[in-house]
Amino acid sequence: MFNPLDHKGIPLDQQIRNWGELNVEPIDPEAVDPYTRCRIITMNGIEVEAIMFSHQFTRNCRDADVKRQLAYTRFVESQQQRTVNWLLPGLSSVLETTLGYEQVAVDLTAWVARHEPDPYLKQAYEFGVLEDFDHLYRYANLYEMVERRKAEKIVNGVTEVMPGRPTVAEFRHPFDNVNDPYAKDAVDPRSKLHALTILSAEQQVLMYYMNTGPQYMEPIARQLYQEISLIEEEHVTHYESLVDPGETWWERLVTHEYNECWLYWSFMEQETDPRIKAVWELHLQMELAHLQQAADLLRRYDGREPEQIVGNTGLPEPLKFEPNKEYLRHLLATQIDLTKLGAGYVREAHERFEQMQEQIHGGEKPPSEAVIDAHREMFGDEYRSETEGPHPVESLRAQEGSRRA
Ligand SMILES: [Fe+2]
Ligand SMILES: [Fe+2]
Ligand SMILES: [Fe+2]
Ligand SMILES: [Fe+2]
Repeated sequence: MFNPLDHKGIPLDQQIRNWGELNVEPIDPEAVDPYTRCRIITMNGIEVEAIMFSHQFTRNCRDADVKRQLAYTRFVESQQQRTVNWLLPGLSSVLETTLGYEQVAVDLTAWVARHEPDPYLKQAYEFGVLEDFDHLYRYANLYEMVERRKAEKIVNGVTEVMPGRPTVAEFRHPFDNVNDPYAKDAVDPRSKLHALTILSAEQQVLMYYMNTGPQYMEPIARQLYQEISLIEEEHVTHYESLVDPGETWWERLVTHEYNECWLYWSFMEQETDPRIKAVWELHLQMELAHLQQAADLLRRYDGREPEQIVGNTGLPEPLKFEPNKEYLRHLLATQIDLTKLGAGYVREAHERFEQMQEQIHGGEKPPSEAVIDAHREMFGDEYRSETEGPHPVESLRAQEGSRRA
């Protein structure tokens, strides 16, 4: 058991890094373990959330001393984010990084769904993961068209590539993306970490697509990024609405720092590349001091102990990047036709859903369908990587004569 509340970490005044320390050697995209790339993408999303959360906090805070403390730690978080994200190589294209982002969304969300103790929260992750699973398939088809390369080079056989809940059917009325929140004082502390982790990852995907989508020349690429970035907007709403809005700012700060400890510790345990492992280890030592600072602020301004927020049993079992093929196939077979109605899940296409579908598609095929048609036209079939046999949903099986990846 590791309880981060029992450790001091690196003193805050020793955490600012110089240019030499920030100048990290990027990973080799041809040789990297796909899950090392996934861990980098995840921790970038977590650090981005740490920074943006701290900015929001300071805009809502009157106390100048607290604002100075937040500014200091936020600068450290910013250096951590630069270090982590700069591990990605300039050699990789935006589409290759995109395939990594969707692989993260698939295997991170699937792990969280498998380990989430609350059934309502678990359903939210099971629902969302089938949509990002579909994005991976759409982008993989675009990738072969634009770059003449196969997505299995990136995802490396640990994640399958085939249709999920079709992106066309993922557009819901925005009202139906708002879920019920957990109750902060009753919920298992693990659930708080899960929700924060997934919403951070989805938020980073959203921002990445919003900003990189228009950098493409090819119309189909521009259109596909536009479409999927709007689904990611839905996903951020879906996941952030799970968090109890009654948590105080001090409480949220503790949860953020505790979550960073959990994830760096998890990835340190699992990392196969010793150079990257050293980054996770160093960052964990930094986060331990952030957590101490957050705990002090909570005691002083909220009159509570951090154990009341995150429990006193130490970190939960380490989060792992690992294949989830069977689990995903089970979800495909049982949940593909689900949609949302209010804060719940239904199987029938209700009126508000149909209305939204009509408004957004206007009777046309969206880019996520057009990209598959275009791929078939160019190569005679679509791109898939089905390593465990045919698709579990009969209507989504590859058409006769399709080339297998
Ligand atoms: Fe951090
Ligand atoms: Fe996605
Ligand atoms: Fe997503
Ligand atoms: Fe932190």
